[in-house]
Amino acid sequence: MDRPIRLGIAGLGTVGASLARLVAAKKDIYELRIGRPIEVVAVSARDRTKDRGVDLAGMQWFDDPVDLAAKAEIDLFVELVGGSEGAALESVKAALNRGLPVVTANKALLAHHGVQLAKLAQKRGSTIFFEAAAAGGIPIIKTMREALRGNGVSRVYGILNGTCNYMLTRMEKEGIAFADCLADAQRLGYAEADPTFDIGGFDAAHKLALLTSLGFGCEIDLESIFIEGISSITIDDIKAAGELGYRIKLLAVAQRTESGIEQRVHPAMVPIHSALAQVDGVTNAVAVDTDLLGSILLAGPGAGGDATASAVLSDVIDAARGSRLPTFGVDPAKLAPYRKAKMRAHEGGYYIRLSVFDRVGAFASIARRMADNAISLESIVQRQRGDGDGNGRDTASVILITHETTEAAVRKALDAVSRDGHLESEPRMIRIEALD
Ligand SMILES: NC(=O)c1ccc[n+]([C@@H]2O[C@H](COP(=O)([O-])OP(=O)(O)OC[C@H]3O[C@@H](n4cnc5c(N)ncnc54)[C@H](OP(=O)(O)O)[C@@H]3O)[C@@H](O)[C@H]2O)c1
Repeated sequence: MDRPIRLGIAGLGTVGASLARLVAAKKDIYELRIGRPIEVVAVSARDRTKDRGVDLAGMQWFDDPVDLAAKAEIDLFVELVGGSEGAALESVKAALNRGLPVVTANKALLAHHGVQLAKLAQKRGSTIFFEAAAAGGIPIIKTMREALRGNGVSRVYGILNGTCNYMLTRMEKEGIAFADCLADAQRLGYAEADPTFDIGGFDAAHKLALLTSLGFGCEIDLESIFIEGISSITIDDIKAAGELGYRIKLLAVAQRTESGIEQRVHPAMVPIHSALAQVDGVTNAVAVDTDLLGSILLAGPGAGGDATASAVLSDVIDAARGSRLPTFGVDPAKLAPYRKAKMRAHEGGYYIRLSVFDRVGAFASIARRMADNAISLESIVQRQRGDGDGNGRDTASVILITHETTEAAVRKALDAVSRDGHLESEPRMIRIEALD
């Protein structure tokens, strides 16, 4: 019988422990699929004494993931430590320097150092597999890197953060305010103690950066992503969206435009009958618009030990069978320099909510400011009377829906409206995403 494929796993947390458990529990089926037995021979984590529900007998223990990657007798290195620097970065470099294939679920690492690591992999005749790094268990990387490689991509977009989608879904369905939803998400383990990374849109941006490179064959440029989180979304916005035929989702979008590639993460109104609007709770979904196939949508679990290990296992089996595709689908030296489309040039419809002092001329002045900036309005509706500003002045909530216009025009118009002194508070604006 052939010698087993020897796996080294750095990180035995949620994903790493699931992976180690599954490799042992399903070894017969994986042997069949690889054509050789597979076993975990070396592991690393911080605390050796922690019970992880994994039998570590017969596995070599390393306190330092870099030592494991540099010295263990392994055929494949799996990085499940997390973080963009330190042990994750150094251990992946050490493994690649030995020519070992690397499997990782680490979006932060690849969003910051992906191209540099892909070049190192290529130099050493190796590759990096990262199916679990974007949208957890959903096989979007393989789909884009392999199944769609006959196509040109014009847009890749989706719901890439389960925490935000869980919160927006509950706000809509149960009318629970943002802060209460966040507290629930933290209690249930869907949100970290410091939720900034998720609700600020940064986690989705890391994933989007990888999908952009795969979709458009360009370098990764995290800094170019426009990022706006969900913390300013209110129940009023969600209700108004519903009445207007939309649902609010945190969308991550990369699209080719005339001025370059637009990358953005922000709350967006999506048509209530669109497929993305049906994606509820912690579920993730990614859609790709292509020239030959049209549009496809993949939806499923974006996180969780076994769901993420499912994606890692797919990579492990590919790597064990000898697959050595370039990390981002093409020779990393040929990844095109990123050509950024400015957010101010973004074109689309806009939802604008204004809290307006209820006085003669206010509406006419707002309409004039929109017209001055060539913004045509699909609707202008006074939704309700407000509570006033506390100084005896009545206010009214006014909602404008624009036809397609530019971000620059909307910002200019709203600045002018604010300067005119008709508003009780800052204007609110949510972009509308045109979807089928
Ligand atoms: N969890 C998910 O659902 C999910 C989904 C998609 C992608 N991912 C990605 O998968 C990776 C792992 O996530 P996770 O949720 O499994 O993380 P986790 O539960 O926090 O586990 C991290 C593991 O790394 C170990 N570790 C951390 N720093 C170390 C160091 N300096 N030296 C040695 N070991 C160290 C920890 O050791 P101790 O256990 O001893 O503390 C722990 O076993 C991350 O890149 C994450 O973004 C996770």
